[in-house]
Amino acid sequence: MNAKKTLNMALVGAGRIGSFHAETMARRLYNARLVAVADPAPGAARKLADSLDCEVAYTDPAQAFSDPNVDAVLIATPARFHTPLAVSAANAGKHVFCEKPMALTIAEAESVIDAAQRNGVHLQVGFNRRWDLAFAEGRDAIDAGKIGRPQLLRSLTRDPGPFNADPLKIPNWTIFYETLIHDFDTLLWLNADAKPVEVYAVADALVRPDAKDSGHLDTAVVTIRFDNGAIAVAEANFCAMYGYDIRGEVFGSGGMVSMGDVKKSSLRLLDKDGESADTWRMDTHHFVDAYTLQIQHFVDTVLGNTSFAGPSGRDARAALAIALACIESVKSQKPVRLSDIAVL
Ligand SMILES: NC(=O)c1ccc[n+]([C@@H]2O[C@H](COP(=O)([O-])OP(=O)(O)OC[C@H]3O[C@@H](n4cnc5c(N)ncnc54)[C@H](O)[C@@H]3O)[C@@H](O)[C@H]2O)c1
Repeated sequence: MNAKKTLNMALVGAGRIGSFHAETMARRLYNARLVAVADPAPGAARKLADSLDCEVAYTDPAQAFSDPNVDAVLIATPARFHTPLAVSAANAGKHVFCEKPMALTIAEAESVIDAAQRNGVHLQVGFNRRWDLAFAEGRDAIDAGKIGRPQLLRSLTRDPGPFNADPLKIPNWTIFYETLIHDFDTLLWLNADAKPVEVYAVADALVRPDAKDSGHLDTAVVTIRFDNGAIAVAEANFCAMYGYDIRGEVFGSGGMVSMGDVKKSSLRLLDKDGESADTWRMDTHHFVDAYTLQIQHFVDTVLGNTSFAGPSGRDARAALAIALACIESVKSQKPVRLSDIAVL
């Protein structure tokens, strides 16, 4: 049991989602404090720290890891830096909340899990969908046996359009490593007692076909077979013109649960054009509660106020194994056995 009542946290990576998480640490949690921000981009850490009345800004994450006032770090840098930063933070004795993906290879994932274990620090990964009320209630209903034995599962991510990013600046395979990894975690979590056996992925550049030759992929469908017989489908697209559309469904022998709604609220607008409703446009609007609850859980776990419910480093490794299987499947245009990727 940790006797501290407030957790001192540092943000590493003051970009889009890091800035939102910093605001959560500074303003939305009752027992955490944002005590430092670290980012090598000139002025980025200082600017964010100043906006949140946080005194300390670092240009090197190592400074946050050696700061004795920091109990825990939240890593929100580009994905390729997650593993080295998480390992360094754990080796410095800091508890680690890491944005997804925690790692890009199985060996990297194991190095983070190992560093956290060796140093006796908590490790949680940012699969926020588990903390969304509908998804959490769906999992509860499945656990309570209300839909019987899961047979078909579905999870989808359609990012809001228009797609304005430069596809050449998006690392190859991002659709699996960073987008669908949420869906893989969701499917594994909803089909909790089963292990994935085989993956088949089809992907294309339908939003930006002009970027396909550089390896850009913005549309994908994945089927996953589980060892309890269940079959799952995950799909993603980078440009849903009607909003940020995140949904899940589990169909079982006794019924089904459906989770998520692109509709922002129960508001119906009736006017000269007929009836309409507003939709979610941004992850930080849709998931403000889920993003907050996941970090609240991390803080409460570290402070000893609750027992850890995940997502763990091992959960991140399992979702990563599916992403890696997808990449192999797209390359070979064949189904890939999970046992060829990692022992799960
Ligand atoms: N869970 C979610 O729903 C969710 C949503 C958005 C992003 N993400 C993940 O969060 C991560 C960051 O995404 P983003 O959109 O905020 O990226 P971003 O590019 O907006 O921000 C990244 C920031 O990290 C900084 N940075 C780069 N190298 C660094 C280093 N070595 N140490 C410290 N800071 C460093 C950059 O200067 C930048 O400010 C990605 O892995 C992404 O997949 C998760």
